[in-house]
Amino acid sequence: MNDAKEHTRDALLRWLRWQADMGADEAIAPMPANRLRGPRQDAPAPVSRHVRAAPPPRSAPAPDIASPAAVTRPASPAPAADRPSPRDCHSLEEIRTALDSMRDFPLRRTARHTVHTDGHPRARVMVIGEAPGRDEDLTGKPFVGRAGRLLDLMLAAIGLDRHAEDPDRAVLVSNVLFWRPPGNRPPTQAELSFCAPWLMRTIELVKPRVLVTLGGPATQRLTGNPSGITRQRGKWTQITVPGLNGPVPLLPMLHPAFLLRTPVQKRLAWRDLLSLKLFLEEQS
Ligand code: URA
Repeated sequence: MNDAKEHTRDALLRWLRWQADMGADEAIAPMPANRLRGPRQDAPAPVSRHVRAAPPPRSAPAPDIASPAAVTRPASPAPAADRPSPRDCHSLEEIRTALDSMRDFPLRRTARHTVHTDGHPRARVMVIGEAPGRDEDLTGKPFVGRAGRLLDLMLAAIGLDRHAEDPDRAVLVSNVLFWRPPGNRPPTQAELSFCAPWLMRTIELVKPRVLVTLGGPATQRLTGNPSGITRQRGKWTQITVPGLNGPVPLLPMLHPAFLLRTPVQKRLAWRDLLSLKLFLEEQS
């Protein structure tokens, strides 16, 4: 009897290990959910009065998730006229609501939550990462997993806190992509371009005194400089944000997920944090 139980346990463990090797990183429900087929039923987000209504559900049947065409299809949102526009949004909450309503955008359909910002809406420092991961997708907040915890510790080391009430000590955290790409694959240029005007409008509303980009993809996207992060990190630059009067200073830094994998590089991150601290002290 015990032998049989052990046998079953071993077989189950082997099966689980095989699934992990294949890339499955979470167990969610006993039945598979086809997130490409129409809007989710559990959280229909209301659209604010400043945001044009979301497009009605399409009458044509959605492609099956198992079809390769559905999985590899590039980002193809609804025609521009049907989509809410960043200019219609006048608060971070309105932007989040508008993004959440874009059920025809493939990444929105496969994600559980839209992950927009976390922190103070008037923070002096705005930190921008790459894309939500599993923990962010589950909670709807950016940087809440291991990398996020390290980011909070890094910020705390120079007196910053995303939960601070004082805007001078506060931080707002966001990403260049607002939905988790399936399986954490790298975002496509089309997906990043889709999110870019929304991120720009977010920066315009927050009016941070300084931007910090984490890692190569976020840095390259915002600076327009294709060099890798090891070349750009620690080098101050500035970017133009539509709607803001002057350019915004930007400091590229190593991504905390990279620092978790390569702790020896934390000394470079520390150097960049001190540079940020000095900049903020000179400003106050
Ligand atoms: N990594 C990112 O770049 N962003 C997150 O929100 C979480 C992890």
